[in-house]
Amino acid sequence: MQIDCFGLAMTAASPEAARHYDEALRAYLGFRRDTGHHLKQALAADDGLFMGHCIKGYFFKLMALPALEAKALQCAGRAREFAKVVSARECEHLAALEAWCAGDMIGCTTRWEGILVDHPRDVLALRLAHFCHFYSGDSAAMRDSVARVLPAWEAGEPGAGFVHGMYAFGLGECGDYAAALDMGESAVQGNPGDIWAVHAVAHVHEMTEARGAGIAWLKSTEEGWSGCNGFANHVWWHRALHHFEREQYDEVVALYDARFRAEPSEDYLDISNAAAMLWRLERIGVGAGGRWEELADEAEKRTDDHLLVFADLHFAIALAAAGRFDALDALIESMRAAGAGRRTTQEQLAARVGATLARAVGAGYQGDFDLALRLMLPLRYQVRAIGGSHAQRDIFSLMLIDAALNNANFALARALLHERTALKPNSPRAWKLLAQALEGEGKAKDAGMARRRADALLGA
Ligand SMILES: [Fe+2]
Repeated sequence: MQIDCFGLAMTAASPEAARHYDEALRAYLGFRRDTGHHLKQALAADDGLFMGHCIKGYFFKLMALPALEAKALQCAGRAREFAKVVSARECEHLAALEAWCAGDMIGCTTRWEGILVDHPRDVLALRLAHFCHFYSGDSAAMRDSVARVLPAWEAGEPGAGFVHGMYAFGLGECGDYAAALDMGESAVQGNPGDIWAVHAVAHVHEMTEARGAGIAWLKSTEEGWSGCNGFANHVWWHRALHHFEREQYDEVVALYDARFRAEPSEDYLDISNAAAMLWRLERIGVGAGGRWEELADEAEKRTDDHLLVFADLHFAIALAAAGRFDALDALIESMRAAGAGRRTTQEQLAARVGATLARAVGAGYQGDFDLALRLMLPLRYQVRAIGGSHAQRDIFSLMLIDAALNNANFALARALLHERTALKPNSPRAWKLLAQALEGEGKAKDAGMARRRADALLGA
């Protein structure tokens, strides 16, 4: 037995193997590019390193790529060979990995939460539970999961910042923005490389429409996070969202091309960032050029994924936007078929929400806005279940408004936009869309007021 960097007993053949594992774990928590390198060293030092095989399997699962599913299962198989000599906590990690490999996201999350009751310093279990709560759209679970272990972490000790960063994110998604800001900022002060904490603060800025502060925050912290792995692309996307709201579209396109979609990538989050931003740009008349084609090329390979419905839906957007309706139909049919089998958590979600939303995306791009509305309206409060953040799921609210306006259903658009301006009173885009709806209803005076509100906000 060795002791890992956070004080937990772990089975390892040598201190050297444990130290390399520690480094891999810390690198994972920091979204660092050298994570795989440290894990390789750990397994080279001890090829029977039980937690090394488990974490390798987890890393494959986190990438949500079908080609890596068999590899994740192989890692579970390797760990299983050594399961008789490890602790109960370590064994639970294997059970969680096996549940995840079987597509049971509720099962694996329950295992991690169980580990945390007895071992609140198992930050690996904490981060993985955080991930799966996130892709279940369960904000309260994200917040409470971290709250339960907080007393086991002293402020300032190594690792505590990562825990605080996760708590900040959970608080923010639950709407407790002041507490999220405090917790996130102090985590970043302690560790400027803690990109998840940087990102938690970025979400507060997004949700509170603090555009100037949001851009300044990401600029001032950039040195700490821009060298992180692909997750940095998502943080650049957050900055682009601020510029979009300020109608600084050249900045948005520049960030797209130079930062968050600088090169082709099959990473689902990269594709999601890109599709969500191109969709927005297209709505205000900024041409996508060949950008949709490149995304659709990636999406076309992913019509049978269903590892994350959140990702599937962004593939659907890319396919529809590029006019590849046959591929989109294949995706929808595959979602339905997978859902009918009801094998995994995400496949069940595909049947319940995903396939219908994907159809709505296609209907919008084919000009059948009436159908898009009929599909989306009854589902709007179930969209949360696909996971992602409020900021990421906002695209589906925008699509609904877009469909209502394009279908000349101006009263519905006006109602939806009252809802949006109540949530986002400082959004020029929301006021402009409201003006459009009011004009459609023949309420010229009210439309003028909404338009002036947008102009005032842009001039401020
Ligand atoms: Fe985000």
